[in-house]
Amino acid sequence: MVVLDGKKTSNDIKNEIAEEVKSLKKNGYRAPHLAAVIVGNDGASLTYVGSKVRACERIGFESTLISLEDSISETELLDKVNDLNNDDKIDGYIVQLPLPKHIDSQKILMAVDPSKDVDGFHPTNFGRMALNLPTYISATPHGIMELLKRYDVPTEGKHTVVIGRSDIVGKPISILMGLKTKPGNSTVTLAHSRTKNISDLIQEADIIISALGVPNFVKAEMVKDGAVVIDVGITRVKDDSEKGYKIVGDVDYENVANKSSFITPVPGGVGPMTIAMLLTNTLKAYLQRIN
Ligand code: GUN
Repeated sequence: MVVLDGKKTSNDIKNEIAEEVKSLKKNGYRAPHLAAVIVGNDGASLTYVGSKVRACERIGFESTLISLEDSISETELLDKVNDLNNDDKIDGYIVQLPLPKHIDSQKILMAVDPSKDVDGFHPTNFGRMALNLPTYISATPHGIMELLKRYDVPTEGKHTVVIGRSDIVGKPISILMGLKTKPGNSTVTLAHSRTKNISDLIQEADIIISALGVPNFVKAEMVKDGAVVIDVGITRVKDDSEKGYKIVGDVDYENVANKSSFITPVPGGVGPMTIAMLLTNTLKAYLQRIN
């Protein structure tokens, strides 16, 4: 069994980007610039956005954090998005989700200029991804593909079962794993809350990608010997630690790990990869802008 070490791989990618930024600056170019918009003060979102901004500093990017009150109106937020679209100093930006209930997230995401949409959430970028055209692939599915690539995990002709059909993870990764690419080229089943006999289905999988957010959902008896197990779950569960919580995945790691051929731990698997891929997308947006 091989542990797919997202923490190490993410650090490798950040170091690669830092080297490239150093060389660009030496040649007189400005630094890439990522902006992040956060609305309200949801604890998890603040943590994620904080990590994204810190990662920028570490690798020599410029970053701008735009914190907005959760009472902001949809029109005011659309104005902010418009400002970012027109700001030549910003190469790419993200609007952290979830947004407050009174704001239509789709409307906001569709207002982001696709050339600055480093989250890959705009329908144009999502569509380009589905057609295997150059695009920005969302950080989490992109991170999974990059982990599979760097560890040379065999995927061609395999049966991939994706659990969960969210717009951010389940839906895009189900498309990517079926594209004629490496990694990819697998036969994909997208399972969700209405799927019948889900345990039997998971048992048939060569590759399981769980993006459900239900702790310990994937148990050892559901997993075929030698399966590849990718755990995208990041549920906060209260505990006695200083932080007051721990991060738990969808997979019963202790019992599943020794049945698997490759497995991602939680924490330290897919999670850290997401930031590395956001930075990768931002570098790409920057290079397109300066060239
Ligand atoms: N909320 C959870 N994941 C993400 C992400 O990848 N991007 C943004 N913008 N919000 C999120």
